[in-house]
Amino acid sequence: MLNAIEWCDDHLEVIDQTHLPARLEVVKLSTVDDVVDAIKRLAVRGAPAIGVCGAFGVVIGLREGRTRDDLAKTIGDARPTAVNLRRDVDRTLQADDALDEALEIQAEDRESCARIGEFGRAELADTTRVMTHCNTGRLATSGIGTALGVVYSKFEAGEPIEVIATETRPLLQGGRLTAWELHDAGVPVTLIPDSAAGAALQAGKAGAVIVGCDRVAANGDTANKIGTYQLAVFARAANVPFYVAGPLSSFDPDTPDGRSIEIEFRPPEEVTNASGIDVGVWNPAFDVTPAHLITAFITDAGVLRPPFSVTIAAAFGAQK
Ligand code: MRU
Repeated sequence: MLNAIEWCDDHLEVIDQTHLPARLEVVKLSTVDDVVDAIKRLAVRGAPAIGVCGAFGVVIGLREGRTRDDLAKTIGDARPTAVNLRRDVDRTLQADDALDEALEIQAEDRESCARIGEFGRAELADTTRVMTHCNTGRLATSGIGTALGVVYSKFEAGEPIEVIATETRPLLQGGRLTAWELHDAGVPVTLIPDSAAGAALQAGKAGAVIVGCDRVAANGDTANKIGTYQLAVFARAANVPFYVAGPLSSFDPDTPDGRSIEIEFRPPEEVTNASGIDVGVWNPAFDVTPAHLITAFITDAGVLRPPFSVTIAAAFGAQK
């Protein structure tokens, strides 16, 4: 499988995820405008992937002669919810050698995915069927993914694993991307409409729910793809453990709780496209799952359990 994001001397080559699964098209991003456009229209998506793309966008922007302030704003604000984008943009802007830094961020992301995969494999040693939401795999990161990284780790180790993937309305990251990715890798996957998730959990079809994250606040409240919160509620009602997998780079200790997380709103057409009807639309791209509904975080620094305000702070303390 191709890498979702590849640096090629003076430009980026990325898989345009808006065309999947109909066609696998690689597009060239040669300017800051190309990079921002790709992030905004979700050609490149997933918290770690937009961070890496933004970092290389800074490299391109500095070569274009744009100022640091301009790049911090133009690229850093392209999408507001995932903390990775702003953090990776700022980190690259502050580095002595922007290209080295962007390549380092990409390598760290790849390594983080591998560690999440192994920690998750140990944590879910007895789980053979998981439900997931959105796409958190090879398309969303520079490595094997976060929640899907756990799945790939189990699969590669020869352990039995099946995935129930939610479609993830309205842009179908589950139906188009996760289903495509897992099918391509040979991992058994069953696709369900989002509206079947409660019934599937009630019927015992998954031993755990595992999702990714765009921003985890200091108290463990977690922003992730819209629909994640309802999965957490259904999981609690069905007594199924609910895991969030993600690198510490998706945690934001400066955000105290979920109320402080900026949620991106997307155009109404994403929702009305299916019907063509002209009515009011409320289309948040993310929701916040309160920490008390989360069983544990599977991170690149190990599995973090409640009380999260303590264990998250300790994980950041150990990183220094
Ligand atoms: O709008 P998207 O497709 O970028 O949303 C992605 C998600 O919500 C993912 O779950 C999250 O970014 C983690 S990807 C490893």
